[in-house]
Amino acid sequence: MSHNIVSLDNVYANRLGTFIKLTNSVLPVQYPDSFFQEIVHSKNGKDTFFAQLAFYSEVAVGAVKAKLIANKKGGILPHGVYIEILAVLEHYSGKGIGTKMLEYVESEAKRHYQHALYVHVASDNVHALTWYKKRGFEQDGDVLIGYYKNTYGSANAVVLKKAL
Ligand SMILES: CC(C)(COP(=O)(O)OP(=O)(O)OC[C@H]1O[C@@H](n2cnc3c(N)ncnc32)[C@H](O)[C@@H]1OP(=O)(O)O)[C@@H](O)C(=O)NCCC(=O)NCCS
Repeated sequence: MSHNIVSLDNVYANRLGTFIKLTNSVLPVQYPDSFFQEIVHSKNGKDTFFAQLAFYSEVAVGAVKAKLIANKKGGILPHGVYIEILAVLEHYSGKGIGTKMLEYVESEAKRHYQHALYVHVASDNVHALTWYKKRGFEQDGDVLIGYYKNTYGSANAVVLKKAL
């Protein structure tokens, strides 16, 4: 399967519904509406989000949302990029779509002079843990017990970090 049939595009307001449906059908964690709305209407204008929909041919099959992490003092200089969502419809997995979305986040992180990517992964999500580790991520710290509140999957999570 060739790579060029896969493309990424912005999450315009009229595509937000698709982004939400896709995310909710792939991930066990349920997010509040505001979590999605901020992609198109950032409330305070301070947060920077990187969000894309992935298309296989003309069909939306993947969603990614990441944000610049503000530093502890709430200053302007961020210190990394946090991947909030990276999801591909199961039927379309193994076609390089997740990799393409990860490459997008990495390139945005570098464009913003960031040196690290972070992601939380449910500690029983062996597939995703293996997938990220194969792409340069390492576990950062201990298992976070009860991290996910609104989920029908495991509540425990680990933080994975990739130095750029
Ligand atoms: C984890 C996840 C994002 C991976 O997405 P994906 O699109 O299946 O990932 P890719 O296709 O890029 O890579 C999957 C494998 O397919 C292989 N592959 C098969 N055909 C391929 C192709 N045409 N191009 C590139 N890779 C291909 C890759 O080599 C890769 O194998 P590897 O991990 O052993 O190297 C996806 O499975 C998913 O959404 N899972 C559920 C949600 C989740 O757990 N998200 C993570 C927590 S945020």
